[in-house]
Formats: sequence, C-alpha cells, structure tokens
Amino acid sequence: MKKIAIMTAGGDCAGLNSAIKSIVMTANTQGIEVLGVMDGYIGFVEGRYMPLNAEIVRSIEIKGGTMLGSSNKECPFHYYNKETGEFEDRVDEGIEKLKAQNVEGMVIIGGDGTLDSARVIYEHGMPTVGIPKTIDNDMSASEPTIGFQTAIDAAVDAIRKIITTAYSHRRVMVVELMGRTSGYLTLYAGFASGADIILLPEQDYSLKVVCDKVNEIMNSGKRYVIIAISEAAKEKGGEETIAQIVKDSFEQKRYGGVSQKLAAEIEQLTGYETRATILGHIQRGGEPTTSDIILGARLGNAACQLLVHGEPGYIVGIKGGNVVKMAFPKERVPRILDMSTNDLCKTAKDMGVCFGQENE
Ligand code: F6P
Repeated sequence: MKKIAIMTAGGDCAGLNSAIKSIVMTANTQGIEVLGVMDGYIGFVEGRYMPLNAEIVRSIEIKGGTMLGSSNKECPFHYYNKETGEFEDRVDEGIEKLKAQNVEGMVIIGGDGTLDSARVIYEHGMPTVGIPKTIDNDMSASEPTIGFQTAIDAAVDAIRKIITTAYSHRRVMVVELMGRTSGYLTLYAGFASGADIILLPEQDYSLKVVCDKVNEIMNSGKRYVIIAISEAAKEKGGEETIAQIVKDSFEQKRYGGVSQKLAAEIEQLTGYETRATILGHIQRGGEPTTSDIILGARLGNAACQLLVHGEPGYIVGIKGGNVVKMAFPKERVPRILDMSTNDLCKTAKDMGVCFGQENE
C-alpha cells in the first residue's frame, strides 16, 4: 500500500487529532503517503482533501476538535441533495474520487452512524478500518470511546462552577448533559461532581420522587441541590424534549430543553428557587485529557497497522484495557447502559444518590 486516507465524521470531540497524528506517523515511517478527507462525508462525496505529513501533524494532539473538520448530518448512502430535496446514494462516487488520488485504503474515525457508513464503503470495495469516537460512550466496539474522558472532565469542571453559585443562593440547579439516548456521560460526570440526583434516559424518572428528594436535601440543612439530567431523559409517561428536527440530517432529532422544563416544575412543586443550565457544546470542546491523547494514539496506530498489513474490515477499540479488533457489525449495535448491573450506578445508589425511582 502506497497511499491511504483518513476521515473524521460525526460530532467532533477531543482526542481526534491524536488519532490523526498517530495514523500519519505510523504510515509515514513505513513510506506510506496520507491524504486527509475534509469535513467528514461532505469532503468524501465532494472530493475535498488535504495532504498530511509529519510537519502538518506536529503537536496537533494537544488540540481539541479535528484538524480535518467534521460534519454530523451527512450519510454517504443517504445523502441529501439540496436542489432536488431527495436523498441519494453517493458511496461509489466518493470511492472513485479517492481512487483517482491513488488512495488504496481508508481509516474512518467516527460514532456508530459514521462507522456504519464505513462498513458500506468497505463493502463497496474500499479497504477500510474504523476507529470509534464519541462523548456519548455508547459504542459496543470500545470502552471507552475517544472523547468520553475529556467530556466528563469538561462537564465536571462546569458543574463545580455551578455549585459555588448554587450554595451562595440556596438554589436547586438542574444541569443538562449531552449523550443523546445514552446516560454514560451524565452518570460519570454527575457522580464525579457530587450531584445529588442523576436522571438518565435509560430509566424514566418520577417527578414526585425528584421533588421529595429536593425537599429532603434542603430540609437537611444543605444549601443547594444539584441535579444532573441527560438531554433525552424523560418523566414516566412523558415525552422526550426535542429542541429541533433537522430535516436534511440522517439523525433528525436534536435534543435540548428538558432541564428548563424540569426546573420550572421543581420550583412550582417545592417552592425552592430553581435554575437550569444546558452545558451544550462545552462538553465537546477544549483540549484533550492525557488519557484521550493516549487512547487516540493507540487506536490510530492499531487501525493504520491493520490497514497497511492487508487486514481491513475491522473496527479497533479497547476491551479490558487492551486494543482489540472486531469485524464491522452488519448493523449499528449501541452499547446500552444497564443501570441494574453498572457498578457506578450501584456505587452511587449505595451512597444515597437519587435516580428518580420509586423503589430506591
Ligand atoms: O453524539 C454526540 C453529540 O454531542 C450528542 O451527545 C449530542 O446530542 C449531539 O452530538 C449534538 O449534536 P450537534 O453538534 O449537531 O448539536
């Protein structure tokens, strides 16, 4: 193999640049050229690239985001045509454009949607290896995924700031975290920042239980309550809170606003002043933790070595602390947070954290 391409797609996160650098350096030391595909599947379909070499990737591992750019709406086999309003399959066209650049293989870094498209690209004849990344940590291919640890730290840092204003004002603070339908980020960041109540999408909460817990905490003499809630969490019998439906996106739901709804309900039912904060993209931004730099480098190296040694068709990830490979699954297999077996859930429950459930 003489030339490979790298692409990052889906929501960005910290640690992607470390993976890019690792792939470039691993390839270059074997005399293999590397081309970067710009802006995820947009650049794949449109044929927009940049050359990558040791000089260009020098020190990029300490920066957040992705130097190649990303996009999280586009899917190459269900690609929105702005002129006709129709969705089209553009996979073969993207592959042909890369082949015209003498590219013989690809490393694609992304979440489960991105890597499902990577599978399709592989099945259409481009040797491909995938690397899992997402702050949501909801991929069966790796535990953890690139970006998860940095997002936890960013959220914990923000919640600690919220705590100082909460105790000054004797307030209930409802903090909304990303993660889509996965509660990992809220659980880990909520626990590590000392949240009193953690509400996850995996188990609908009881508003009565939440309000009773707020009253109990405030009556105990503690001056504030912190509630960490996942963006897709909902009350028993209620609906998810959707901020926007993005019609031209493969994943059309954009969550947002559940914290504001819950804060208004708590204030009304308990009488305590309550405020909501949506942490938003702060969780995806900033410099990577050292653990994400190292994770990106390990997975970048493993993916590049598989590809250049003629073993495409895999996703590389971490299992039990080791780098492992798994064949591209035939369909998206999310990693579900099982609250009845997860040991951090159990630890938190044993320590008195409320998950909004009647039988706690
Ligand atoms: O999947 C990653 C993620 O950050 C989710 O946690 C969040 O719901 C979504 O992306 C936000 O996407 P966007 O950047 O389009 O607002």
